[in-house]
Order: sequence, then C-alpha cells, then structure tokens
Amino acid sequence: MSGKRILTGIQSSGTLHLGNYFGTMRQSLEMQADNQCFYFIANFHSLTSMPEPALLRERTFNVALDFLACGLDPEKTVFFRQSDVPIVQTLSWILSCICPIGLLERCHSYKDKLAHGLEANHGLLAYPVLMAADILLYDTQVVPVGKDQKQHLEVTRDLALRFNNRYGEGLLVVPEPMIQEEVAVVPGLDGQKMSKSYGNTIEIFGEGKPVRSKFMKIVTDSTPLEEPKDPDKCNVFALYKLMATPEEQAELRQRYRAGGMGYGHAKEALFKKYSEYFAEMRARRKKLQEKPQLVEDILQDGAARARAVAQKTMERILPAVGL
Ligand code: ADP
Ligand code: TRP
Repeated sequence: MSGKRILTGIQSSGTLHLGNYFGTMRQSLEMQADNQCFYFIANFHSLTSMPEPALLRERTFNVALDFLACGLDPEKTVFFRQSDVPIVQTLSWILSCICPIGLLERCHSYKDKLAHGLEANHGLLAYPVLMAADILLYDTQVVPVGKDQKQHLEVTRDLALRFNNRYGEGLLVVPEPMIQEEVAVVPGLDGQKMSKSYGNTIEIFGEGKPVRSKFMKIVTDSTPLEEPKDPDKCNVFALYKLMATPEEQAELRQRYRAGGMGYGHAKEALFKKYSEYFAEMRARRKKLQEKPQLVEDILQDGAARARAVAQKTMERILPAVGL
C-alpha cells in the first residue's frame, strides 16, 4: 500500500448537514484514494457525555450509515468502532502514567465542558490521553481534524515524545496534524455559518417537501425580479456552487446577471441540484439502513484489521515498558 497512514475519529454530531459534508467529510473521503486510511467511530469518547445506552448505540450505527452512504469504501479504508479494539485502553493507561495532570487541566475543551456545567469526571479529563492512544496505536502519520482538536493533537505529540524519550527513540510514531481550517465556510439558511447550534442547517439526507421548504427560506436581498443580481453576494448561489459543475455555475451566473430571474427560480435550481447531488448517497443509506447486519459485518471486518495493526504496535510497546 502506498500513501500515508491517515487516521481520524468521528463522533456523532447528530444529523449530518451540508456544512459537515462540504466542510470536512468530502475531504476525508477523497483521501481514501491514495492513502491508508483508518476511520473509526469514537464511541468510548462519546461516553464522556453520558448518553442513554440505546441512544449511544443508535448514534454509533447512524455514523456508520452516514459514512458508508457518503462513499467510505470499507475495502480500502479500515472502518471500525473504537470499542471493538479494547487494547487501546491498555495504551491509554500506559500514556496516562507519563502524562502530567497539568497538561490535561490546561485543555480548552475540558475547561469549556466544565464551564458548560458538565461534571468534572475522570473520563472528561483523560479524554485527550485516550485520543493520543487512538492515534499512536496505529503508527499514524497524519491526523485530519477540525481546529477545535488542535490542542489535543499537541497533547498527543507531547506524549509520544515523552514516551520515546523515556523508553526508546522511534517506539512511537510522532504524528502530524492536518488542521482543516474550513476553507469554505458553508452558509446556513440565514447566511451565518451553517451549524446545528444556530438552527440554520440543511440536512444532506433530506427529501421532498420538508427539505424543499427549507431551501425556499434561504435569506436573500430584496432586488426586484427584473433587475440583474450579483451571484457572489447570494447565499443561494454559494450553496449551488458546492454542487454544480463549472458549466452549470456559469449558466446560473449568467441568469443572475441578465435580470428577469427571481430568487425563487434560483432556489428551485438549487433544490433540484441538491436532490440530484445526494440522490445516490440517499439511496445507499436507505438500503444499508435495512441491512443492519451488513453494517455490523463491515465494522467487524474493519475491527479485525485494526486489531491486527494494533497488536503489532503493542508487541513493541509492552516489552519496552516492562509488561
Ligand atoms: P456544528 O457546527 O453543526 O455543531 P460540528 O461542530 O459537529 O458542526 O462540525 C463537524 C465538522 O464539520 C467540523 O470539523 C467542522 O469543521 C465542519 N463544519 C461544520 N459546519 C461547517 C460549515 N458551516 N462550513 C464548513 N465546515 C463546517
Ligand atoms: N475528539 C475528536 C472529536 O471530537 C474525535 C476523536 C477521538 C479523534 N479520537 C480521535 C479524532 C483520534 C482524531 C484522532 O472530533
């Protein structure tokens, strides 16, 4: 296999929206083509927010469905559930024993969670240590994550360096972060960044009337129908651009500039494009949803491949620390 060893963990963040898809997911899926990708569902991490057991199970299944529907190729990519490789907890413990508490207490995400009233349990504090174990267990070279995870990657690098320093150079691979800066911030219905916390999202698996009515609510200016309009200042066009071919974009651009086209028409064009763009993924998701056993088999196969790699790493680590 060629390319780099890339790994990232995915937590369920509810219903996927266009911002999630075009902001990060599409890039992660593109990387499958020429790298060795390890993508896993971070369900141990999700436990820190103490969801109901049935809900945690359902969310885990939904993330698997979303990624498979969107084009994760389980033949190429090692796709698994974190809890199916329990040896990660052993590495996490070993790293805990070289991790100063201050390093964890300084993490913004820990402090934010406390500020939001979450109980200061040990899982929340140790969250970055487990994340470091996730990464180091597979000799990961590159970790694509959002800006909010940058500090956790610094903790990972710090722990890998400390470990190598104490137990032997080269034992752990020191990974590089690949921070996804949201180069293209996807606008929501109101023109602000699309985000579930702003209630302005369009889901990627939406269909028919309910989602169509969302498109019709996208905020535009009040230029009258007959006047020319500026596509580059329009939220409808910004979304259209993400899904349309260059030719289709040029054509709609032309119609904006010519005048005589209302925003309603642009919204219709956008809705049509959206329906087509995600049609195959929607269909794939529906099929998979009816075959939970197939999804389970895919995750089990991924876990077996992940465990094989993990075991090799641990054969190096355990004797090195005296276990
Ligand atoms: P939300 O803002 O809806 O809570 P999350 O924080 O769960 O979304 O986002 C998951 C990933 O999707 C993040 O890595 C983030 O970079 C990306 N993302 C979310 N919203 C957008 C957006 N409007 N534009 C670009 N990327 C986004
Ligand atoms: N903490 C990450 C998030 O919330 C998820 C995650 C867990 C992760 N383990 C990881 C990401 C390892 C990258 C690598 O988004």
